[in-house]
Amino acid sequence: MQNKDRSLRKKAYEEIKEYQEIVESDPYRLDFHLMPPVGLMNDPNGLIHWKDKYHVFFQWMPFKTGHGAKFWGHYTSQDLIHWIFEPIALTPSEWYEQNGCYSGSAVNHDGKMKLFYTGNVKNERNERETYQCLAVSEDGIHFEKKGVVIHLPEGYSAHFRDPKVWKHHDKWYMIIGAQTKDHFGCAVLYMSDDLIDWELKGEISGSKENDYLGYMWECPDLFHMDGVDVFLFSPQGLEPQGIHYNNVHQSGYVIGELDYDGAVLHHGPFCELDRGFEFYAPQTTLDEEGRRILIGWMGVPDQDEEKQPTRAYKWIHNMTIPRELRIKNGKFHQSPVEELKKMRGTLFEKKDFNINNESLHLSELDGDVMEIVLKFGHADPYNRFEIDLFDYAKLIYQNESKVLTLERKNFDNKSTESRSCQIPKLATLQLFIDQSSIEVFVNDGEEVFSSRIFPDKKNSSIHLSSSGSVTFDLWKWELTGYTYQTSEEAKREANMNPLNG
Ligand code: FRU
Repeated sequence: MQNKDRSLRKKAYEEIKEYQEIVESDPYRLDFHLMPPVGLMNDPNGLIHWKDKYHVFFQWMPFKTGHGAKFWGHYTSQDLIHWIFEPIALTPSEWYEQNGCYSGSAVNHDGKMKLFYTGNVKNERNERETYQCLAVSEDGIHFEKKGVVIHLPEGYSAHFRDPKVWKHHDKWYMIIGAQTKDHFGCAVLYMSDDLIDWELKGEISGSKENDYLGYMWECPDLFHMDGVDVFLFSPQGLEPQGIHYNNVHQSGYVIGELDYDGAVLHHGPFCELDRGFEFYAPQTTLDEEGRRILIGWMGVPDQDEEKQPTRAYKWIHNMTIPRELRIKNGKFHQSPVEELKKMRGTLFEKKDFNINNESLHLSELDGDVMEIVLKFGHADPYNRFEIDLFDYAKLIYQNESKVLTLERKNFDNKSTESRSCQIPKLATLQLFIDQSSIEVFVNDGEEVFSSRIFPDKKNSSIHLSSSGSVTFDLWKWELTGYTYQTSEEAKREANMNPLNG
């Protein structure tokens, strides 16, 4: 192990130990979401189901609750519920990554796990440099860096990053999120026989003057599913358009067909993946059961990050719960993975629940770590149905306009802000509530809202109200949450001896 790598690891583990108590004392700490042990977590990286284990790597800044020279942290799990904190996968120790081991992906090759990631460098003139790098592992825990495999090609700014690699027929392909020299976001395709020599195939899609989709595309992902190619990316620089693009940066997808030879993606319109306040940089993997699993970052760069209250407890941000993707009628449907049902504990159930021009508080619904499912009757003549969460956030369906809205108090001034989407017919709502987060799956995942919420922790009441008469079946489960362990290897590393020499 290089001395710089060793000293960075040591410092990061010391940071965990120093602040563990304060981090864990935060009432907003989550029960069933992956979080950083200390510092800042952003994008999920290197998602892979490898030799019976799910690996979730993550962008991690251990030393502060802001962005900086990122590490790759690492969690594994066999069932997406019981998680193990593994030794740090990558530290920014080499010249080509000295300002961060930025986002990337993992593949299985010849029984080895191979990580592709971006080496971020700010040179002595404070200019950005970018390198696409490879690291290889025999055991999925210890990684040997192989250095740079792709240098920045002509025509692009140094915002060229986040390689996602996959196999198609007998070739390997890599898609990179990029920005042209004249500031248009785009995605660039490479091809390789051996994962070492990469040939530039071209720009498969990009933002244009007359079809503007931002100045930079981050975190691309491309996969084949149900007979179509899906391209997922996080464009920066879209202006809000009514209820669309209301976050500072967006995440979405297009569906089409990738012409691998011509390096062109023929596709339909851009569609947002999530309608909530906090969602960005999702990544997917095909697991050994053939499911396409997605995990996103429950945060958005530059969006009120410095106002999040958990920073006082030395940590910030988390991942979404894992979702399984399907395509129905040309649109993504996202459902919480089946495994999460194993967290279900005490059940409260009420059939044919009717609310008629009233506001109800049911103490059985109170709680802060739970799943609530509502199944609506048809043809109800109500105008408005509302779920009020902890006097902090509200989910509102307006039957006339067919708009579903999530309102919450702004992190800063406590004024109300909202995100909305069109739901022609509200059939089901599934809410996952976890201390300071909420994920709402609408109509079995036709739309999802992911957001952080920071209510007064003394208030755990939910109110249901309506104008008009609305009838539904309701289920509420208390949830047990994830379990966490630190691997023996990570414990050993955390107690590592002082530097050699
Ligand atoms: C997205 C992103 C990526 C980059 C990483 C750095 O949130 O900006 O483009 O690789 O975060 O942490």
